[in-house]
Amino acid sequence: MWDGEHLHQFVKETFKDRSLIVVSNREPYIHSRSNGKIRCDRTVGGLTAVLDSAMKSMGGVWVAWGSGDADWEVTDREGKVAVPPDQPSYLLKRIPLTPKEIEQYYYGVSNRFFWPLFHKFVDRVQFLEEEWLCYKEANRRFADAVLTELKEKQSPVIWIQDYHLACVPLMLRERRPDATLSLFWHIPWPSYDLFKIAPCRQELLESLLCCNLLGFQTDSDRDHFLEAVEKEFAAPVDFSSHEVTYKGHVTIAKTCAASIDTAAWIKLASLSGIEKKVGNVRRQLGLPSTGFFGIGVDRLEYTKGILERFSAVDIFLTRYPQFREKFTFMQIASPSRMAMAEYREYGEKVENAARMINRKYSSNGWKPIEYLPSHVGSLDLAIYYRAADIAIISPFADGMNLVAKEFVAAQVDERGVLLLSQFAGAAREMPGAVLIDPHDLEEFVSEIKRSLEMAPSAKKAAMSGMRSHLQTYNVYKWVKDLLSESCLSHKRSQTVTPLSDRFPVPQSERAYSPSLIPPPDFPPLP
Ligand code: F6P
Repeated sequence: MWDGEHLHQFVKETFKDRSLIVVSNREPYIHSRSNGKIRCDRTVGGLTAVLDSAMKSMGGVWVAWGSGDADWEVTDREGKVAVPPDQPSYLLKRIPLTPKEIEQYYYGVSNRFFWPLFHKFVDRVQFLEEEWLCYKEANRRFADAVLTELKEKQSPVIWIQDYHLACVPLMLRERRPDATLSLFWHIPWPSYDLFKIAPCRQELLESLLCCNLLGFQTDSDRDHFLEAVEKEFAAPVDFSSHEVTYKGHVTIAKTCAASIDTAAWIKLASLSGIEKKVGNVRRQLGLPSTGFFGIGVDRLEYTKGILERFSAVDIFLTRYPQFREKFTFMQIASPSRMAMAEYREYGEKVENAARMINRKYSSNGWKPIEYLPSHVGSLDLAIYYRAADIAIISPFADGMNLVAKEFVAAQVDERGVLLLSQFAGAAREMPGAVLIDPHDLEEFVSEIKRSLEMAPSAKKAAMSGMRSHLQTYNVYKWVKDLLSESCLSHKRSQTVTPLSDRFPVPQSERAYSPSLIPPPDFPPLP
């Protein structure tokens, strides 16, 4: 079973003195001022949580947007700070973004174009040429920050994350043909019918094809990507080995499902005294000993299907009144992208729906929905996961959904049931989950009832298989598989056509000097 120590050894033996750099939009730690003091918090989101576990074992440099209001008070002149604060094990190199970049690169192209299109919310898609130019400029700043870190080191290993940084591979490849370059696409990749809507589709693919390895969450994401390449470029695509040969360079597309630090969740969920806290949660909710507790944990996000989940609870309580005063559903929703009107509006709708359902059914001090629109830390989450009889994770589209995996890992007594949308990437790996279609409320409601009434032996059997899968396929195995595949792919690519032939002349130095990162002179985001 892979753990942090194995990953550490793997990186040491495989990469020796090569630089290892991870790049993402979101930073793993954020510094902010509170009551005159600087505090450091983990940021919200699955990607940063799991990569932080891996980076703690691997060391190296993580390049990301510095978005905290005290971020620049703790960094050196190069924008770097050692993290985690209690046990520094890698360097976080922060990049300042201007208000225009935040608006056009992050909210604009990343979250009004890529996010809705790739999650099939076509009516929300907005593409503006001006924002696309700004997206590329911002990507250039991330690429420059990486290049500054590489200095003279040969054959660096660079791992780029997600849809925010899709143009970074080309920018790096032009300057560092010797790099082992990979990118992991954390969100779904849509079918060609949707993808062809994207005006920037050829630029996007051209850049991604500069990677040695492209990682996807599911086979269908990978195959949709290969289909897009074949249709757009008529490039040779081998659908059995998942290789693309484009302009003499080979890129391998690989399914490699993201995972969690399973052992860390098991440890949290087994802490001494946790049973007492679990009992307290159920008591505070006013549940009788024969009562049921359901939980949902998401970013406050329209793709997650929170409103429809509440509708399912509403119909469930109408159809099966025997569960009134016996079933409470807690929805934890971490505020996300709140500077965007659509996210604020969605938050209001969710809040109103919870209020309306509570007004309809509350009685004798019991209410059906406990809505917590805030971020909840891992220890409290582990307590809620243990206290829950069911978890309902019902997104309309989701690259993976690591909450589903956390819930399973935390079921140390194997008494919970996972109700999971068939449209979450995690559904492919969770055969013991009760799969639902969030559009089909009839079925959804019946499955809630069936899950609550499932025999303990059936629950145990379902949970146990999923838990042993997660113990093997954890975050360390995920990262090791991706990095070793990218090295193999890099070697293979060099034997086909050396990349130095494809990008023979390094581009001249740009006016923007990435070596000194100035502190931003603008207010950070709320
Ligand atoms: O899944 C994509 C992702 O980048 C994840 O890291 C995370 O769940 C979420 O989106 C974070 O979004 P943001 O950084 O915009 O808050």
